[in-house]
Amino acid sequence: MSDIKIKITDREGISHEVDAPTDMNMNLMEVVRAYELAPEGTIGICGGMAMCASCQCYVQSNHHLPEKSDDEEAMLSEAFNLKENSRLGCQLNISDVMDGLEVELAPAE
Ligand code: FES
Repeated sequence: MSDIKIKITDREGISHEVDAPTDMNMNLMEVVRAYELAPEGTIGICGGMAMCASCQCYVQSNHHLPEKSDDEEAMLSEAFNLKENSRLGCQLNISDVMDGLEVELAPAE
């Protein structure tokens, strides 16, 4: 069992430091749901298929994250509230490179 720390600012602007497991094949959207940091039904709507953008978040720390896939790029290009540092949480698998990551959830659409 190995955990990393992630700081997640919710849509109300409250920040939470959470432990996320690197060995359970979880992504960031699932971590947000597991800690109930966004109301049920407002995040992870497509189930993590890069098809809804409800899991959009803004990466605030300087981490080198895996590049966006074409699917992620395509979905983000249609998303509201897009910023330069936008990512889809469901496409970010929890791994050691994310230790100390700081993200903010994008507003619900
Ligand atoms: S949960 Fe739908 S795009 Fe991430």
